[in-house]
Amino acid sequence: MKAKIEFDGKFYEFPVTKGSEDEYAIDISTLRAQTGGLITLDRGFKNTGSCESAITFLNGEEGILRYRGYSIEDLAENASFLEVAYLLIFGELPSESELNKFYDDIKAESNVDEEMHKILDGFPKSAHPMGVVSSLTNALIAFNPSSVNVESKEDMYNAIIKLLAKFPVLCAWALRKRTGQPLDYGDDSLGYVENVLKMMFKKANQNYEVDPVIASALNKLLILHADHEQNCSTSTVRVVGSSHAGLFASISAGISALWGPLHGGANQAVIEMLEGIKEDGGDTKKYMQKAKDKEDPFRLMGFGHRVYKNFDPRARIIKKSADDVLGNLGVEDPILDIAKGLEKEALEDDYFVKRKLYPNVDFYSGIIYRALGIPTEMFTVMFALGRLPGWIAQWREMRLGKEPIGRPRQVYTGEKLRSYKPMDQR
Ligand code: ACO
Repeated sequence: MKAKIEFDGKFYEFPVTKGSEDEYAIDISTLRAQTGGLITLDRGFKNTGSCESAITFLNGEEGILRYRGYSIEDLAENASFLEVAYLLIFGELPSESELNKFYDDIKAESNVDEEMHKILDGFPKSAHPMGVVSSLTNALIAFNPSSVNVESKEDMYNAIIKLLAKFPVLCAWALRKRTGQPLDYGDDSLGYVENVLKMMFKKANQNYEVDPVIASALNKLLILHADHEQNCSTSTVRVVGSSHAGLFASISAGISALWGPLHGGANQAVIEMLEGIKEDGGDTKKYMQKAKDKEDPFRLMGFGHRVYKNFDPRARIIKKSADDVLGNLGVEDPILDIAKGLEKEALEDDYFVKRKLYPNVDFYSGIIYRALGIPTEMFTVMFALGRLPGWIAQWREMRLGKEPIGRPRQVYTGEKLRSYKPMDQR
């Protein structure tokens, strides 16, 4: 199959690639060479496939999300986060012994160098945890200086294990710093998710019993966030990694990309928005109007998605989970009602219907995090914790696939050549 482009009276042919779910893409890699300089322009990469990937399948029109062929609904219902991490990174669900070895290896690497405390101490208590976690992840390089030899299976595996082991410790430290708690080193006798909870919440003078309702809710949330193909932060990880920067540096860059309120930072922004609406008397209609007013910068946070033009399947699962978790924990949160009210109005509103704006993963996730006792400014860190295996899987795929350095082109719109003007002539 071929696609033809006509430019300046001449036709050029390009091969068409077909994915395993019958998605087609015009391979324009020879466009510039064939035409003597023509490039494509695609602001925000809305129509650009940056790679071929076998990790995650997403169909935004139909609201489908699958990791390595398994539906997100199936995995969220049945799997553990660690199994999903293994699946994403290595391509298959682990056998019992593979999973045990995977977790044993992670536990063996979960120590974070004491010197890292000094770096953490350097941050003010008010620092946003995303900035802290991104910086600490980068700082890990100093304590694990050898770059990953991607030709060596063992080297690759060890780098991945180290990150999966140390990253939750850093996330928990960021929270403990913020809440003034002494640092905690976790408990190897617990599962991965249970240990995260204990590292985050154990008070120095008290025992911490993991509540199975909370652990199961967090397990589900982490799975739902674990990968989402070539989104902003994942593309960042792949592009940074494509320069052969190390794994930790690539992930640190991805964390920064995730932080923005148009991406992962939306989960914090949603709760702040819902709180604001509550404090303003709970008038959802007023905020619907604001969201539709092009003169008003307000957007309905947690609504809309670059790829989903249908329900985000993760939002469906999370909405149900929010009801279950709050019910099981006996938490009543008035902002859940405000969220449901906004959703109902938006789904019946012409503006939102026409633009195919549906709730995304962030619309209800913050309500669950809040019920679990996680402070608002930690929400995006929780997202990063969930996304870590996806970033690692994508980085690994990119490096093993020997992808070239990511380097887009541009259409230059600036000044043509001009001469330097001395200061007194400007
Ligand atoms: N509230 C009001 N209007 C919206 C919203 C919203 N949340 N989202 C999109 N629109 C409108 C835009 O104003 C635009 O209208 P127009 O066609 O009249 O100009 C139209 O819908 C298309 O929106 P774009 O911004 O062009 O869509 P894009 O694909 O570039 O952006 C994005 C997607 C960034 C997610 C956007 O919908 C948004 O800002 N949502 C709110 C933030 C959010 O929830 N982000 C989390 C996304 S999920 C994730 O990253 C984990």
